[in-house]
Amino acid sequence: MSRVVVVGSGAREHALTHALARQHDVVAVPGNDGMAAEGLAVADASVSSLAPDLVVVGPEQPLVDGLADALREEGIPVVGPGRRGARLEGSKVFLKEFLAEAGVPTAGFHVCATEAEAEAALAQMRPPYVVKTDGLAAGKGVLVTDDLAEARADVRAKLSGEAFGDAGRRIVIEEGLAGVECSLLVLCDGRDVVPLAPAQDFKRVGDGDRGANTGGMGAYAPNAYDPTSCETAVETIVRPTLEVLRARGIDYRGVLYAGLMIGERGPMLLEYNVRFGDPEAQSLVGLYDDWGDLLARTATGELAGVVARPRGASVTVVLAAHGYPSFPRRGDVIEGLGSDGQLADPVEGVTVYHAGTRRRLDGRFETAGGRVLSVSAVGESVADARERAYAGVSRLAFDGMVWRRDIAAGIS
Ligand code: AMP
Ligand code: GLY
Repeated sequence: MSRVVVVGSGAREHALTHALARQHDVVAVPGNDGMAAEGLAVADASVSSLAPDLVVVGPEQPLVDGLADALREEGIPVVGPGRRGARLEGSKVFLKEFLAEAGVPTAGFHVCATEAEAEAALAQMRPPYVVKTDGLAAGKGVLVTDDLAEARADVRAKLSGEAFGDAGRRIVIEEGLAGVECSLLVLCDGRDVVPLAPAQDFKRVGDGDRGANTGGMGAYAPNAYDPTSCETAVETIVRPTLEVLRARGIDYRGVLYAGLMIGERGPMLLEYNVRFGDPEAQSLVGLYDDWGDLLARTATGELAGVVARPRGASVTVVLAAHGYPSFPRRGDVIEGLGSDGQLADPVEGVTVYHAGTRRRLDGRFETAGGRVLSVSAVGESVADARERAYAGVSRLAFDGMVWRRDIAAGIS
């Protein structure tokens, strides 16, 4: 049994830790109160002081900051790219220029640093207008709107630094694409790739895809539409990306998450993330058994010949705090969780993963962040998993709870 350290404190890291703990000695750094409640090890320590055999980095920020490079220098295998590879997510400007070089299908774009440049770019576009913050913005840096006045106001807020500080001082204005979205997560060992089941994320806060963009309000996998588009995307998008990374001397070992728009022109790349998606990970973990082996092979460059076959389906519903995504309220007591942080009244196939929760002195949990809990279910079909996930949701409550009723609705 080897020791795995999972870096992060959200529901994604809870799901990975929970899955890996079936076969390995796992420590989450720093982890969260929900992990601790179910008996998973958490530590507020430096990663290397835990002497890991494998490190899995959950969030993008430590990757952008170079955590994977530092660990590799110590000889520790890591799932997650180094700083240079992480720029695919860390800078939209870098990404778009990279994609142009790699010949990857993506929306036409302009890079703008001044309002005058942005105005000229908008004048060439037709609605919907798409305005993206260059730097990291916790999944909230993208505006898609048909309203030119709103696009202009967003440009001003971003370029002035008001909206996202320095992350928004350069922006990308790009062509609006139509189609269906798909999250294609691929394990990459620098050379070989193993695609995981395509997933769908629900980014808007409200039912029917209305309201503000969020980090993700729910997900399901495998996603319903044609698998051939995902096979195409591996060939036209993922492999050319890895080739250019290699040509630049970047040994990309980790998850490459391709946010795809599948429309009339075939799959096109909206964005890359350099890590597992949240909440996609919560659903994907339930579809495979041996995460330890898959992730170790990713980190050590041994994915050649590996095929990951998903079993069944999974649906995840996110419960967010009152006021999410703008001003999430903290301190609302969560009803329906037992002392282990799981459903007090369990539903078969359902696991609750914690994100923005805090354990109070009286042992109960309260809200302590925007996305509070992920209720994730596995089942034989998406419909079956969906029924279970919502049965789980119905057993939980807190004041002002925000959740979508239509995650994976109508999918068989
Ligand atoms: P991103 O962070 O770049 O994936 O953007 C967040 C969300 O904005 C995506 O999941 C899409 O729903 C939407 N989006 C981004 N770029 C475009 C585009 N070029 N056309 C239409 N929608 C987009
Ligand atoms: N669910 C979208 C993300 O993780 O970025």
